[in-house]
Amino acid sequence: MDINTIRKETRGCTDKIFLNSAGSSLVTDTVFDIMMNSLTEEARIGGYALASLNQEGIDDFYAETAKLLNCRLENIAFQTSATDAYAKAISSIEFKTGDVILTTDDDYVSNQISFLSLKKRFGIKIIRAVTRSDGDLDLVAFEELVKEHQPKLVALTHIPTSSGLVQAAEEVGAICRKYNTWYLVDACQSVGQLVVDVQKIGCDFLAATGRKFLRGPRGTGFLYVSDRALEAGLAPLIIDMIGAEWTSADDYKLEPTAKRFEFWESSIAGRLALKEAVKYANHVGMANIQEYNAGLMAQFRNQLKQVKGLNLQDRGTQLSNILTFTMDQHTTEEIAQQLREHHVYFSITSLCSARIDFPKKNIESAVRLSPHYFNTPEELEKVVTILDF
Ligand SMILES: Cc1ncc(COP(=O)(O)O)c(C=O)c1O
Repeated sequence: MDINTIRKETRGCTDKIFLNSAGSSLVTDTVFDIMMNSLTEEARIGGYALASLNQEGIDDFYAETAKLLNCRLENIAFQTSATDAYAKAISSIEFKTGDVILTTDDDYVSNQISFLSLKKRFGIKIIRAVTRSDGDLDLVAFEELVKEHQPKLVALTHIPTSSGLVQAAEEVGAICRKYNTWYLVDACQSVGQLVVDVQKIGCDFLAATGRKFLRGPRGTGFLYVSDRALEAGLAPLIIDMIGAEWTSADDYKLEPTAKRFEFWESSIAGRLALKEAVKYANHVGMANIQEYNAGLMAQFRNQLKQVKGLNLQDRGTQLSNILTFTMDQHTTEEIAQQLREHHVYFSITSLCSARIDFPKKNIESAVRLSPHYFNTPEELEKVVTILDF
């Protein structure tokens, strides 16, 4: 991995220290160029002509994404966000009163709200798995819960938005396969950051976004759907004319591939730019990106541990490129002010995104830094100095 070339191909990284890839990352120059050129062309010839001129590029998105996730292109559906993907996946399962969703304390805020909404509407039960004191899932207890409650759906967020924890997606997948349970993974923060292999994870659905660690444009994402789910006829509650063919006044035929989870309308510039982002990640190599990130973060965490009064808030035996912290002597807002003054880009995570995790840590908010492979150890050393204030 050639970090100098990567930085040269990232126009946004030169005049700041950008540590917000978990929010919305810096796109590569190729992603930016494709987006801009497509929009320019669209203004000239219109959206439909743009689409037919670029059919090959639109189709390539499926092959590139299948390569990224290690599946067939028929398992991939374009989506406008991870939430879009997640909502369609959930809507494909026929919940009845008393059905159980087994999830975790660290699942994403919007996913938790969706489960609560299903509870209100259908009377489903939400069970949250046991978290060990080190932050990891208790997998023995997890299997017991699956055995006892026979959940209709197991829903796991691979990396939460509010901490650096990496959850045991593959181990949970093995349990789901053993008990034949539908398994939905929110990989919004892990795709583009880690090697994400759907065969190894053994999931039925995997939702991701374009704009975070994948470095694609906003308003894009995708959904992986397993052959098992496709063959079982799972389809979103609301299907449009790309998801099915209207065969007679009173009938329709479902699209055989994961495209049954798509809607017809989307931004062609967005699709082409997302394809470019996935291609870029495949080209750099997810194993290389993961290895570089692991080294970068280990050093960063060690250096931050030396800063007096700084409390790293991430728990778990495997940690990711999301780093959250608080400081004894400064409020979150004071830290934010200090980082802003030094042109460091970051996010603040608040209690309403971490209603279960933050009370356990006895905090109400945390600063979230999320470096990526275009960041250098020198940049992170500078941030350590900035935080020693
Ligand atoms: C873990 C996780 N899941 C899902 C989402 C939602 O992604 P999107 O905004 O693309 O729908 C986020 C966004 O921060 C996230 O962190």
